[in-house]
Amino acid sequence: MKGLILAGGTGSRLRPLTYTGAKQLIPVANRPILFYAIDALVEAGITDIGMIIGDTGDEVREAVGDGSQFGAQVTFISQPRPLGLAHAVKVARDFLRDAPFLMFLGDNLLRGGVKDLVDRFAGGRYAASILLTQVPDPTQFGVAVVENERVVKLVEKPKTPPSNLALVGVYCFSSAIHEAVDGLKPSWRGEYEITDAIQQLIDWGLPVDSARVQGWWKDTGRPEDVLDANRLILEDLNGQVQGLVDADSEIAGRVVIEAGAQITRSVVRGPVSIASGAVIVDSYIGPYTAVGPKVQISGTEIENSVILADSVIEDIDVRIDQTLIGRGVTVRGARKRPRALRLVLGDQSRVEV
Ligand code: TTP
Repeated sequence: MKGLILAGGTGSRLRPLTYTGAKQLIPVANRPILFYAIDALVEAGITDIGMIIGDTGDEVREAVGDGSQFGAQVTFISQPRPLGLAHAVKVARDFLRDAPFLMFLGDNLLRGGVKDLVDRFAGGRYAASILLTQVPDPTQFGVAVVENERVVKLVEKPKTPPSNLALVGVYCFSSAIHEAVDGLKPSWRGEYEITDAIQQLIDWGLPVDSARVQGWWKDTGRPEDVLDANRLILEDLNGQVQGLVDADSEIAGRVVIEAGAQITRSVVRGPVSIASGAVIVDSYIGPYTAVGPKVQISGTEIENSVILADSVIEDIDVRIDQTLIGRGVTVRGARKRPRALRLVLGDQSRVEV
């Protein structure tokens, strides 16, 4: 079976972070979201992977390389414009040929992996198999109606949901999907929808199977989702301190401090991940925080947050909580009077003070 990971798209809901980088490369627990997706495929025995890339393709290529760091072989496939998930299948046609394949959205995280889904599908009895999970508000999702695990109907973002079973970003397809995709028309939002293609398979009377998410699933489309995903991944962290911690610091709980990081006169309460080259001085780093490479934090308390590489946070006199900070950002407490907020914020930044 082949794999198809979608790492293109626009990432508009994650602006301003996605003005300068691919959303799939935003790190959670100091590792790009996309890398967890590649791991999930490799774990299920899928190593021949096509990766859809768009405007941020160069950055994705550079991070992923040829895939050998994951034990996979990755072929990059350019999608000229992000015209939808079914369009991504279409542009991958030459790579996929008639092989059955697993499609995985590169900004989705799945705790339980995809092995069960793949093993069920590998028997060859189904035209497609989709992964489903119960959600509290199905109106925001593609929703499935299921009878004895067989999918009988799909509805995209229904006003009156026929069930609370939402499609998550993982699908297995036989080559029958290509004919369904070829016949699609764009939806009201101008995209070629994969749910329409799967509905077409159902309408043709072909068997579409479903499985439930084991563990948890997280779509990291919005900033609050990235913080949630960071928390969920850190939940499973194994602590390991390799960096320098001075005698005046206290480290408690499961904490990763990479070699080359320095902690001075500070308290770190896990689960926390601190990347190489980070410097923490006179600060408190609380649970569910990931501090990126070469970040400098001094005189500050912070928890439940994700700080990307090369940022500087100094002398903030309220605790920073539930915060997502991009690369190379400076946040500094005002030392001189009059104390006032002095802000330089990029387009679509969000600040709560
Ligand atoms: P989405 O999150 O649905 O779309 P998006 O990335 O355009 O984000 P936003 O709505 O915030 O603008 O996409 C899910 C995944 O699929 C994500 O990893 C991007 C990828 N994708 C493609 O590779 N090609 C596409 O045409 C689309 C729509 C998405």
